[in-house]
Amino acid sequence: MITPPWRSPELTGLGRVPMHSVPHDDRLPLDGTWRFQLLATPEAEPSGDWRDIEVPGLWTRQDTWDLPHYTNVQMPFPGLAPTLPEMNPTGVYERTFTAPDGWAGRRVVLHVGAAESVIIASINGERIGIGKDSHLASEFEITDRLAPGSNTLTLRVVKWSDATYIEDQDQWWHGGIPRSVYLYATSPVHLADIRAIGGLEADLRTGTLEAAVQVGLGSAGPEPGWSVEVDLGALHPPLREEAPVIDRYRESLEAPVTPRDFEIMATRAMGGSLSAEEEAAWPGIRWRLAPPSDGLIRWQLRIPGVHPWSAESPTLYPLTVTLRSPDGEAVEVANVRIGFRRVEIRGLDLLINGARVYLRGMNRHDFDPITGRVVSADSMRADLVLLKQFGFNAVRTSHYPNDPVFLDLADELGLFVVAEADIESHAFWDTLCDDPRYRSAWVDRVARMAERDKNHPSVIIWSLGNESGYGANHDAAAGWLRRYDPSRPLHYEGAIKFDWGGDQRASDIACPMYPSIGSIVGHTRSGTQIQPLIMCEYSHAMGNSNGTLAEYWDAIESTPGLQGGFIWEFRDHGLVQELPDGRRRWAYGGDFGDTPNDGNFVLDGMVWPDRRPKPAMWEARTLFAPVAVQLLGDDRVRIANRQHFSDLTWLAASWEVAVDGEIVAAGQLDGPAIGPGEHVELTLEGWPTTLPDGEAFITTRWTTVRELAWAPAGFEICALQAPLQGSQAAPDSQAARPEPARPPAAAVDEAGNLVHPALASAPLLSLWRAPTDNDRIGGMAKRWSGWGLDRLDHRVVSVEAVGPITSVITDVVTGSGLTVRHERRVTALSDGAIRVEETALIPDELTDLPRVGTVIELVPGVEELEWFGTGPHETYPDRRRSGLVGRWRTSVTDAATPYVRPQENGGRAAVRWLALTAADGRGVRLDLEVPGQVSATHHRAADLAAATHDIDLVEVPEIVVHLDAAHRGLGTASCGPDTLPEYLLGPGTYRWTWTLRSMP
Ligand code: GAL
Ligand code: MG
Repeated sequence: MITPPWRSPELTGLGRVPMHSVPHDDRLPLDGTWRFQLLATPEAEPSGDWRDIEVPGLWTRQDTWDLPHYTNVQMPFPGLAPTLPEMNPTGVYERTFTAPDGWAGRRVVLHVGAAESVIIASINGERIGIGKDSHLASEFEITDRLAPGSNTLTLRVVKWSDATYIEDQDQWWHGGIPRSVYLYATSPVHLADIRAIGGLEADLRTGTLEAAVQVGLGSAGPEPGWSVEVDLGALHPPLREEAPVIDRYRESLEAPVTPRDFEIMATRAMGGSLSAEEEAAWPGIRWRLAPPSDGLIRWQLRIPGVHPWSAESPTLYPLTVTLRSPDGEAVEVANVRIGFRRVEIRGLDLLINGARVYLRGMNRHDFDPITGRVVSADSMRADLVLLKQFGFNAVRTSHYPNDPVFLDLADELGLFVVAEADIESHAFWDTLCDDPRYRSAWVDRVARMAERDKNHPSVIIWSLGNESGYGANHDAAAGWLRRYDPSRPLHYEGAIKFDWGGDQRASDIACPMYPSIGSIVGHTRSGTQIQPLIMCEYSHAMGNSNGTLAEYWDAIESTPGLQGGFIWEFRDHGLVQELPDGRRRWAYGGDFGDTPNDGNFVLDGMVWPDRRPKPAMWEARTLFAPVAVQLLGDDRVRIANRQHFSDLTWLAASWEVAVDGEIVAAGQLDGPAIGPGEHVELTLEGWPTTLPDGEAFITTRWTTVRELAWAPAGFEICALQAPLQGSQAAPDSQAARPEPARPPAAAVDEAGNLVHPALASAPLLSLWRAPTDNDRIGGMAKRWSGWGLDRLDHRVVSVEAVGPITSVITDVVTGSGLTVRHERRVTALSDGAIRVEETALIPDELTDLPRVGTVIELVPGVEELEWFGTGPHETYPDRRRSGLVGRWRTSVTDAATPYVRPQENGGRAAVRWLALTAADGRGVRLDLEVPGQVSATHHRAADLAAATHDIDLVEVPEIVVHLDAAHRGLGTASCGPDTLPEYLLGPGTYRWTWTLRSMP
């Protein structure tokens, strides 16, 4: 028996219409409710037991017994390719339709936008074709199969197949039809493909257009005289050409190829001269030796004076293709949009329109928290608008061709795209890429992507897929693609993985994933760099993460040969899950009973599943700002344009000078008309003649002057800050206070505990944080609990009171028996405040700590939080470039960051003081003598560490305040480098001083 198609890697599809980029308007939509049943195996036959299901839709998200399953590298079932599990959910989708009256005599094609992972299509019980490649469409011509009146369409979708082995991307496994299904009609002779790739000559003003139209001639071969018209509007006079058709039988009889023809060809090819007679005969000889392709028309155009397309300025031009019958009737009209841009690699630089563009990129999956992978145009637009609003200029379509609307939006909104083929054999890293059974799949997936997406100006680079080793199958695909589209560079991480400087056939870019800053800078200095270095993935955004993003960009912007990269990744893939008790949560691996699974590794986005930006997004926004402001002294500023193509007139700024958080001067500024990379020096009108004492900062906020496709007028693009005077100094030093006039209240009890009416319990030394995903996966959390930092025993050694000062010495013994000598000098101040000077001696064994500081629990009720420090968003020592020093307010509840899997959060770096007040204005204020890392939430570290989902996190009524003298950076160790050495905490003596005071 022949192996079934779902277990035949050699079979990539059967009976499919070749992939193309012709839009079709004459459609019959088939989205909506279909009859459905889910079988346990592909061999099973449907019973009479139908239910309804929505198309597009994944059955794993529509109440069937087959649920979502999350794995990263590992396969969801055992075996070697192409072994399949016995249980192989297979959905049978059925519906009827009636072709529109006007379709009589037309060519009719069934379009299935995507199916995971194999589709077998039948009409009226007759099989019409098979498709694989879960993230690209399959089309089947059904012209001759249509019955008059009602027709029955059956789509059988098999979940697990040979293709599963090369669709092993790190995401949820689903089954179903995630994209639209429709029929379209054309005339029998039709537009089979349109190629319109816009380029730009070196002058950056003359556009080039490589255009080709393939006329589908039908099997019988049409009569000659069909023609194609290309209308470029004002850009170019219309083009019109007849589609060549050759009757090879007759033509060769009439004018046979002679040996003399070959001689003449060889003479010409070698550069020899021909007689005048031979020269005159040449066109005919040429035609006989290489007749034109049937139905294919090509043009090469030069179009002076075009506006280039770029992410900053995405100018598109309409192009209309009309197919005319021999009697001149327009039988098909297709509208596409083109853009003119120039992509080239020169030396170590990727140049776009001649500019060495930084790719401020994001990896993005097609994801929706409810549907799984069914994404609407609105949802995709919202994704891209958000990316634009946060300064991103590039997207990698990790790890497969996205919904086709995505590229229309990228063209329109302006995003550079690395378009990636649907190939990932991660579990079989280095084997399938050399497996001949999979060779066709490699080439087919790469080719079909390029055939679909070639006309999009946003696509600047092709990617051969992700994490599939490097083998001959890659080179086969690369070879095809280089020939098919020489206009774009190739990108494939697997090809450069072990040698960034090697001579790679399959990648024109060194595109490593998760390299350290040191390694990329080192590579540029190694003398072995031969390609631009653009990280295909970096800064893994899992949980509270993206530490050292600023340092990556410092390195990129100061090192020739580095051009940016793509953050991993845009969204947390948390799926909405209703629990038996009616609560809803963001589900991750294992939450559906899926085994094996990779837990919350699927939650590694810079936005929550519902697209709300996480704090790290603000960090990116600052780093990607189109403008830089530098204070030159007093009222002089230097404004630099950090864009690549535009001036700054689309922006206006307001500036303000604040001292200790109080605004003392403010003014307005217009975005200067300076070119990319240029700067200008300006005087700020309204600068204060003198500044009051205190910490002063100048902040500029840049907003759009007019509405854009992705932002309303007045929308804030970035907020930038520079220190003026006295910054980082002790803001409210207690040392300067007068001696107490009346005897102070006792601040320390007999047992050595601090007492104050605002305290719910005695403040303690804290050396531990609830592990972040980076801490946990990077192995630090294990080390810390090995040392017992999460289990401290505070043993008071001595309490000694001299005047208003009580000195308390405590041995803090960790769970593993190491002792930290902890000394506190507590001063009771006249106004009832207490001032605490702390010293902790961290022993040599503790080589890496998450924090050194004080944890204070305040009595419930003081819910309003104000602080003077970085904000307004969560900041950490290695992720605080976006933090503006100022006075910020929020509630204790909102100060926390609800990462889906709870972990350390809510911190603010460089805090000078914080105040917590109740509705009646009463409250407490905490001052730090040296700015420190602070948080104030309703969560204890142990509870954060214990909870697996945000909805299960214990909230305490007390307010848990951490005042840290030092706090470890976040790094990105869940997948990539840990933080930099300067953000690590080790042994030694730590000192910090704080004051607690009731208000008012
Ligand atoms: C990369 C991979 C991504 C994702 C990421 C970790 O290795 O390409 O798909 O798995 O790591 O989240
Ligand atoms: Mg992977």
